[in-house]
Amino acid sequence: MAQNLDALRLALQHSPDNVPLLLLYAEGCLEDFQVEEAENSYQSVLKVEATQLEARLGLARIAFLQGRLSEAAVRTEQLLTEKPDFASAYLLMTRILVTEGDLGRARSLYEKGVSLNRALADEGLEKDLRTVKPNDEGSSGPKRLGVTSQGSFVEASLSDDGEEDDDDSHPRGGAAFDLGLADFERPKLNFSSVGGMEALKEEIRMKILYPLQHAELFKAYDKKVGGGVLLYGPPGCGKTLISKATAGEIKANFIALGLHQILDMWIGNSEKNMHEVFQLARQNAPCVLFFDEVDALAADRRDLRQSAGRNLINQFLSEMDGADSQNDGVLILGATNAPWHIDPAFRRPGRFDRTLFVPPPDEAGRASIIDVMAQKKPMGELDPRALAKKTPDFSGADLKAVFDLATEEVISEAMRHGKVVPLTTKDLIKAATRHKPTTKAWFESAKNYAMYSNQSGFYDDVLKYMGLLKK
Ligand SMILES: Nc1ncnc2c1ncn2[C@@H]1O[C@H](COP(=O)(O)OP(=O)(O)OP(=O)(O)O)[C@@H](O)[C@H]1O
Ligand SMILES: [Mg+2]
Repeated sequence: MAQNLDALRLALQHSPDNVPLLLLYAEGCLEDFQVEEAENSYQSVLKVEATQLEARLGLARIAFLQGRLSEAAVRTEQLLTEKPDFASAYLLMTRILVTEGDLGRARSLYEKGVSLNRALADEGLEKDLRTVKPNDEGSSGPKRLGVTSQGSFVEASLSDDGEEDDDDSHPRGGAAFDLGLADFERPKLNFSSVGGMEALKEEIRMKILYPLQHAELFKAYDKKVGGGVLLYGPPGCGKTLISKATAGEIKANFIALGLHQILDMWIGNSEKNMHEVFQLARQNAPCVLFFDEVDALAADRRDLRQSAGRNLINQFLSEMDGADSQNDGVLILGATNAPWHIDPAFRRPGRFDRTLFVPPPDEAGRASIIDVMAQKKPMGELDPRALAKKTPDFSGADLKAVFDLATEEVISEAMRHGKVVPLTTKDLIKAATRHKPTTKAWFESAKNYAMYSNQSGFYDDVLKYMGLLKK
């Protein structure tokens, strides 16, 4: 595929506004997991042809892949209103509904889509539609869905008795792991792979790492070690990265549960899996157990809380509370960019009782991030400061996008000349003018919450960052 992509990229240089080419290229990128690039390509289509359906469906698919479910649903529904015989939009809507747990609607949309285009029939999806809800007709015995690390659904039956199994007979943590619900690794990443964020690193050292490393000392003073820390802030500013690096820094194990795995437990109503993930962490202490986009679990959504999901939430909370020393050496980190949606019950003592704001990098921080990113590229002269100066409000992810854009340019030049052309500050600065920073929108919504629901100073750091509160 990569070769195909190169060819398409070359062709696009000659006719950058060619819609079919752009669509092909975007699709290739998606298959190759180059999501940002795919997104750019779909956007380019829309610049040429503002209502182009395939490109809009592509953007909806990307939203879905990145876990932005409501955005994906809104985009897809709009397409179906405009074009009620849009078969592939029915299929995407089916996937969204499966993830949301609305199997009834999912089934009828799937049938409609496939009746419009037989070629779209999808065995994996059909399986998902047949399973899930324990009370569902047609499901043969208890089954749950898991998500593999590649993000595709896998299905597995539970152990025969369905009983909880607390001993250590599952060396790698049992069904939750086998189901692919948890990714278990020992990260090579440490703080040196994270540019800037010096204040945050120091806070993590003091509040998290030091207590974990000197657990005995803390015990002597009868002070609890572990518990939960909630990281929040605008997207792309390194919450996920720093969590992983935190585990790497003390050579602890790292178990990450992303949005999909969490939603999956919602769908499967699966308290047992939640318990097993915590057991896996306990058996592998010291361990960082990371819940990415924890608002998916902790959201204060009454409708969900009344439904089957309430058990899952309660399970999570009681696992977090951990009787006595149960959670010794297990650090629970949660990341979110919508802290205002988090149910206050999650922030009680012993749960996510410490909160850290992860702000966009300042100029010096951006320079360090640029340094870190440049290490992986063939670089010519590089002046990180100069680029940092030109990129106010850019997040780490935005800077990565700048590197990607500039790299593409340089690669096509390299292909023309048949040799490696190094990347320079000039290329990067040029690319930066083509990218809009993504952090501003977050602060716009954060501002209201920070000003009007700032109980016990929860959002003081946000207000300080915005200059609305004295430091
Ligand atoms: N401080 C940093 N040093 C180096 N790279 C960074 C840094 N911050 C962000 N990045 C880059 O940006 C990418 C996105 O960061 P990350 O996924 O950690 O952000 P996030 O805060 O978790 O975002 P989201 O809220 O969207 O989940 C990383 O994979 C990394 O490439
Ligand atoms: Mg993240």
